[in-house]
Amino acid sequence: MTSSDAYISIRNVDKYFGTFQAIDDISMDIAEGEFFSLLGASGCGKTTLLRMLAGFESCSSGEIYIDGQPTSDIPPHRREVNMVFQSYAIFPHLNVADNIAYGLRKQKLPRAKRQEMIDEMLDLIALPGYGKRRANELSGGQRQRIALARALILRPKVLLLDEPLGALDKQLREQMQLELRALQRQVGITFVFVTHDQEEAMTLSDRIAVMAGGRVLQLDTPLGLYENPKSRDIANFIGNMNFFRGVVRRDGSREGAIDVEGLGVIPVPLEQLTRPDGAPVQVALRPEKFTITPDEPETAPRVAGKVRDSAYLGERSHFYIEIPDKEEPVAVSSPNLTRNDRKLAEARTGKPIWLSFSPESIVILDAE
Ligand SMILES: Nc1ncnc2c1ncn2[C@@H]1O[C@H](COP(=O)(O)OP(=O)(O)OP(=O)(O)O)[C@@H](O)[C@H]1O
Ligand SMILES: [Mg+2]
Repeated sequence: MTSSDAYISIRNVDKYFGTFQAIDDISMDIAEGEFFSLLGASGCGKTTLLRMLAGFESCSSGEIYIDGQPTSDIPPHRREVNMVFQSYAIFPHLNVADNIAYGLRKQKLPRAKRQEMIDEMLDLIALPGYGKRRANELSGGQRQRIALARALILRPKVLLLDEPLGALDKQLREQMQLELRALQRQVGITFVFVTHDQEEAMTLSDRIAVMAGGRVLQLDTPLGLYENPKSRDIANFIGNMNFFRGVVRRDGSREGAIDVEGLGVIPVPLEQLTRPDGAPVQVALRPEKFTITPDEPETAPRVAGKVRDSAYLGERSHFYIEIPDKEEPVAVSSPNLTRNDRKLAEARTGKPIWLSFSPESIVILDAE
């Protein structure tokens, strides 16, 4: 994405609270209609950045542009931005319908139209008929859904959502995820969504900014983050990963290679091998990139190992495999396509097996 089609453009933004730096030189662009997520552990600065987009906090330095306009002089109520807060701030003395319609009070809407909009929102958040209920007679998850409806009914250009599904149980959460995504596509609102749940971010987002310590570690599509993590931290944060020590081999031939602990010499196209001969690297491989077989496969690379542990999970099985010359066992996740696959998962500890993988599935990272 280029800056010219950015709807929100964050440029070299810092935020200090006293001497504590909560946001550390963040620059990124968000496109119109994008479902964009901020993902990171507690305290990494997600809410702070969202509050800066909404105008509740100023930038200590840098600038945020929305639709090409610098925002530092625009107060929150004049930004076409609406925020759904982490703690569901709804009015306890109002009923559900009045809470949802709160932002409409200045628009002189006909009664029937207002009611129609409220009913549409109640359906959307799966609370039909709840309009007359008092807000203090609701569960935490129900309040959170009301807060979401109250923001959505205004159809803002940008909706900032701070863990809006955090208080919901798994089933309702997954249902609301699908509905949020469908609604976002339907109305084309730009969503900036905060979560510390990587699966939720992967399910919903066009792109994800992974944050730590006030910085963006990697900004990418879900696929990019999963298949091409730029660091060990990212690889660990998104899914599971095996790590191996390796050394670059480029002996003047056209093909490069990496000599990998436990796995042997793996051919790697030279264009992927930006480091010099002898450079230490880390090689990362996701558990599902391995194929596990009882007999030696014909494909290379392959390595003989022994089952240390296995668990049958129905659609797939998880294994820990010991291989020579590597201390940590290799985590393998294998689909149960046939009954034979299942039998493998019931293998006793110590059973000899083979692992193979495609050289393209490795990720090359800086050495620790
Ligand atoms: N008003 C404030 N004054 C001082 N420090 C603050 C203030 N607001 C936030 N911080 C600090 O800034 C850091 C980032 O806080 P923030 O609320 O943005 O984290 P977060 O990523 O939203 O975390 P969580 O997932 O727990 O909600 C934290 O260390 C927090 O203590
Ligand atoms: Mg927060």
